[in-house]
Amino acid sequence: MRADETYGHVATGRPPIITLQGHILEQQSRHPEATGTLSWILSAISISAKMIAAQVRRARLIDVLGSAGEENVQGEQQQKLDVISNEILLRTLGGREGVAIVASEENEEPVLLRDEREGPRRYCVLFDPLDGSSNLDVCGGVGTIFSILRHDRRSDRAEDSLLQPGSQQVAAGYVLYGPSTVCTLTIGLGVDLFVLDPSIGAFVRVEQGLKIPTHSKSYSVNEGNRLQFPQGYQDYLGWAQQNGYSSRYAGAMVADVHRILLKGGVFMYPPTAKAPKGKLRLMYEANPMAMLVEQAGGKALAAPGQRILDVRPEGIHQRVPVVLGSPAEVDHVMDHVAAGAAAA
Ligand code: AHG
Ligand code: MN
Ligand code: MN
Repeated sequence: MRADETYGHVATGRPPIITLQGHILEQQSRHPEATGTLSWILSAISISAKMIAAQVRRARLIDVLGSAGEENVQGEQQQKLDVISNEILLRTLGGREGVAIVASEENEEPVLLRDEREGPRRYCVLFDPLDGSSNLDVCGGVGTIFSILRHDRRSDRAEDSLLQPGSQQVAAGYVLYGPSTVCTLTIGLGVDLFVLDPSIGAFVRVEQGLKIPTHSKSYSVNEGNRLQFPQGYQDYLGWAQQNGYSSRYAGAMVADVHRILLKGGVFMYPPTAKAPKGKLRLMYEANPMAMLVEQAGGKALAAPGQRILDVRPEGIHQRVPVVLGSPAEVDHVMDHVAAGAAAA
């Protein structure tokens, strides 16, 4: 137990109550060099999450379900709530001095907000404003995923500054809008978990230093694509089924990865015949989830021996195969994938 935690315990015998805001200030105070800029950015994300949660909760009542009638840059139908969530994040982050560039799944081009070469350190924020949005119509779990990078001032082109490997992320997290609204955050010092208490309008810390179970007989994949997967993935699924594994798939990465972080197992979106690099986006889906999973003691790979966090990005909307979760379960998948590739 750290010194600052003892006070709460001494007074009541129970852990202290810390909000996300308090947690961020506490972390900042441990880094004397911190200017508070990152804290301001995280607070903008926290406010956005509360606003999006309020919309998601009342979606059917306030007529924000369904398609917005447009396709996004990925050629996918935008739901009204994709557009609303995107606007909320752009407006809250746009008001923060410390944000240089934002990039979103819903915008083809990154938005350059401030590009001065001098002055205080600034950051780039990349996000998937509403992940799993097709789950909305059926009241399933959806989420927001975010990744924060330092602004690289060497280039004038916004894209150059954004195209850093995931290992350079300074913070990453997601918010899951489920039966509770849950925020999972890492700033590179482990993973902490917060739950929104709607009665006080604050995220309250419920777990520090979250660790993913080392193994669990559970896999999470869209098995409808099975015959389109490379042979090694198909072999893995056959092996897992012969060995008593369970299948769990929500169809929203945030909901699936949240379960994996808490209960263990493996989540994957392999290459398919239709999508040879898989479906998930490197910069604002795979990278932030990979950072969280690794910080929780898990593994996150794009191919055997290839960390997602080491993939060199070439475009902000590029896709990457994803296999992440409990270390032993990721190894089982990749052993089969490597053997399948060697046999081909
Ligand atoms: P988004 O709603 O942001 O486009 O993301 C949907 C993603 C991800 O959440 C999920 O893991 C995956 O799509 C599900 O894809 P399939 O329907 O192909 O299984
Ligand atoms: Mn998504
Ligand atoms: Mn999305």
